[in-house]
Amino acid sequence: MKTVDSVLQLIGNTPLVKLNKVTSGLEAEIWVKSEYLNPTGSIKDRVALRMIEDAERLGQLKPGYTILESSTGNTGTSLSFIGTLKGYKVVIYETTPGKMGQEKKNLMMGYGAEVRTISPAEYEDLRRGVPGAEIELPGRRICLALEKKNSDVWWARQFANPSNVEAQRDTGREILGQTGGEVEAFVASIGTGGTLMGVAEVLKEKNSKTRVVGAIPPGSKKEMKPGRPYPVSEIEGGIIAEMLMKPGLIDEVVTITDEEAVEMTERLWREEGVFAGVSSGANVVAAIRIAEELDRGQRVVTVMHDSGDRYLTTKHYVT
Ligand SMILES: Cc1ncc(COP(=O)(O)O)c(C=O)c1O
Repeated sequence: MKTVDSVLQLIGNTPLVKLNKVTSGLEAEIWVKSEYLNPTGSIKDRVALRMIEDAERLGQLKPGYTILESSTGNTGTSLSFIGTLKGYKVVIYETTPGKMGQEKKNLMMGYGAEVRTISPAEYEDLRRGVPGAEIELPGRRICLALEKKNSDVWWARQFANPSNVEAQRDTGREILGQTGGEVEAFVASIGTGGTLMGVAEVLKEKNSKTRVVGAIPPGSKKEMKPGRPYPVSEIEGGIIAEMLMKPGLIDEVVTITDEEAVEMTERLWREEGVFAGVSSGANVVAAIRIAEELDRGQRVVTVMHDSGDRYLTTKHYVT
């Protein structure tokens, strides 16, 4: 059995698991990267660790500073976990409405953060799903104002932080290693866009023919289409805008409904024993659509962004 000196060493290097039942009738295979097995139960442990350690190295984050972020939950939880462990104060603006937001708040507080809840009224109807890129905006506005006013705060700025993409390039390298580079298509839900961009860059550097597909909930108010500009400001755009305009990187962005995502999530739990969250269900819905067009033995890879434990009270597609 492996031993580690710190729980931080348990971040990443997640297994790639083949789906066996929800794929019945398909010639092609679907493999899922089990990011819900990271210490706090999400892929964002990779991102938080990289953002914090890069900022420390660059002198942007110093002892005694407060870490700030606006988050629908996962990045906030990962920053709470790693930031608190490293001795920083962590303040998170949690932006998921309803019971799901409460569950995530409890998780972040459990890891030591101070959590301030913001519930944008226009997103109260979670049944349409909620894109992180839009629902996090009110929290980002507050983080920006605090950053301008105080010298001892560090806003992680996940939506535009290059360390976010860099962390996900590691995820891409792991996928290459686990598949021998044989990946026909890759799918990921878009929140900040970090997962899709980092993994896509690595896969396309290896094989420019790998198809890369992003998934979003229908609640998205702003169009996300490869080759079309996405609004950029001090609080939005960032990775998404760059990724959409990078020639040949993203092939398509598809919309998955809340119902489709929730139904597949429940099937993943029961039929595959994969205890992942609702955006992971959405990813598998999109992966199946792609796999239907592929031949025997070809592979679609996707990620299980987070754990099912944060969707026990209520399930919705939130990125
Ligand atoms: C549950 C969930 N799914 C998907 C995503 C998308 O990840 P990314 O921010 O890398 O685009 C996120 C984070 O934003 C998330 O919290």
